[in-house]
Amino acid sequence: MKAFKSHLQGLPSYPYKKLNAPIKLDQNESPYDLPAELKLRVMQRLEALDFNRYPYLHAEDVRERLSVYLGWPMEGIVVAPGSNLLIQALVQAAGRVLDTAPSFPHYAFSARTSATPYQAIALEAGFGLPAQALLEAMNADPGVLFLPNPHAPTAQLFAEADIRHLADKAAQTGWLLVMDEAYHQFSETDYSPLARTNPNVAILRTFSKAWGLGGIRAGYLLASPEVCNIVQNFVPPFGLPGHTAQILLTVLESPGYVQGIVQTMVAEREKLFHALLKHPTWKVYPSQTNFFLIRTPGAVAAFKILLQQGILVRRQDHYLGLEGCIRVSIGTPQENQRFLDAAFSFAEVSNA
Ligand SMILES: Cc1ncc(COP(=O)(O)O)c(C=O)c1O
Repeated sequence: MKAFKSHLQGLPSYPYKKLNAPIKLDQNESPYDLPAELKLRVMQRLEALDFNRYPYLHAEDVRERLSVYLGWPMEGIVVAPGSNLLIQALVQAAGRVLDTAPSFPHYAFSARTSATPYQAIALEAGFGLPAQALLEAMNADPGVLFLPNPHAPTAQLFAEADIRHLADKAAQTGWLLVMDEAYHQFSETDYSPLARTNPNVAILRTFSKAWGLGGIRAGYLLASPEVCNIVQNFVPPFGLPGHTAQILLTVLESPGYVQGIVQTMVAEREKLFHALLKHPTWKVYPSQTNFFLIRTPGAVAAFKILLQQGILVRRQDHYLGLEGCIRVSIGTPQENQRFLDAAFSFAEVSNA
């Protein structure tokens, strides 16, 4: 197609294929839908909403509520239909992108579609942060460094001292360090105080995980007003749909349900981790998120046999250093038990 920019020729599609299975543990979603009482309030709000009218230009209604909820100035918040869109906006605006490998694939994907110079530095052995190599890479012309923390897909938390070094370096050199905190409720970490004191640090968050709102598409950026002004220009006008805004306003009025869900998920995580440690052929990595990275003798076989038992997980074996790995979201206690049963029956089959 000659109408499009030449770098887009032959670009691979985003690495995800929709499959259906009774137990869906492939997208790190919350296994719990919004509590029924809140859903009812959403429905009442939607009934009162004028569908014929455009929503706010830049989600002012939601940003105002988030500003109160987080104690963060409204001029330092951008809200978009999914943090994926904010990643895309940041990458389009960036002079260059620095990433870790493996990492959340949308950073690299966005760099490819927008032809933004991109460099990824391999994690150290044991999935450690390659802090020294990142600091050196930041001697190049400034750009945006994406750091998921806890990290995806390895589920690890990075050392605070290393993150502070990167933030200091960003302030000295003009880089922007974007801490992607998609899973931060599960690790009880929050780097927004660092972003408050250092305008070269920004925080990216999503409603898709702990809030249980993957289907409504919403995420936000906390950053300096200068950064937000630029990023906002890459989010289309009236970009946050009115119905998504009403759902966000409802949950921000009653955010208490999230804590109970996070506690359940963390308790399940500990149970699953200790059970999986006994697996004869799989190596489970510690997790600070709502998912596990597991190294198996063969990701294809593990994926297929789990799917035959009705359990959908995600292969990760195409990423650097993740040979044999699968990623498994934490589900409800019943789903987790079914997964464990399948995992251990699989061990019997493959050892027979
Ligand atoms: C690290 C990380 N960042 C961002 C996202 C995207 O979230 P959203 O649903 O808000 O687009 C995900 C989703 O899996 C993620 O794992």
